[in-house]
Amino acid sequence: MSSTELRVSKIKEGTVIDHISGGYALDVVKILGITGKENRVMTIAINVPSKSLKVKDIVKIEGRAVKPREVNRIALIAPHATINIVRNYKVVKKLEVKLPKVIEEIIKCANPSCISNSNEPVSSKFYMEKKDPLLLSCHYCGSILEKSDVLSQF
Ligand code: CTP
Ligand code: ZN
Repeated sequence: MSSTELRVSKIKEGTVIDHISGGYALDVVKILGITGKENRVMTIAINVPSKSLKVKDIVKIEGRAVKPREVNRIALIAPHATINIVRNYKVVKKLEVKLPKVIEEIIKCANPSCISNSNEPVSSKFYMEKKDPLLLSCHYCGSILEKSDVLSQF
């Protein structure tokens, strides 16, 4: 390690969300409902150099797991993210997030008059048109949602 590098500590037990699209770490933190007032060790790295992506963000959280519902949301804004489960300093599990072709219930349609936003018992349904940058189309009204529309709901 050269004198221009700073090594971020490994965590003992918890979750490392790696390969987050550069600039989106704080959105991931928001999805996890983390305020910073928790008594946990956390590291948030933004726009650090990456081998596979040009730059990436990393979120490390000591003593916290990530729920499936959170993983689904993270996938929408960070489609290349890797979720590493760490136990006793070792990565014991590595999950790549997956974006399904059809996305149901996670997000709302941006069109207020869409049937999925009415009092009808119709839950939202979107088709994944493009993964990165994200483009979703509503099954009911055809509205197109992009990443910023999705982010504003989290
Ligand atoms: N990590 C950590 N604490 C540990 C173990 C790993 O913070 N006790 C972090 C590493 O710094 C890295 C991520 O978890 O950011 C994944 O670790 P590892 O699988 O060892 O790294 P790579 O092989 O580089 O991962 P990948 O192949 O997914 O790029
Ligand atoms: Zn719609």
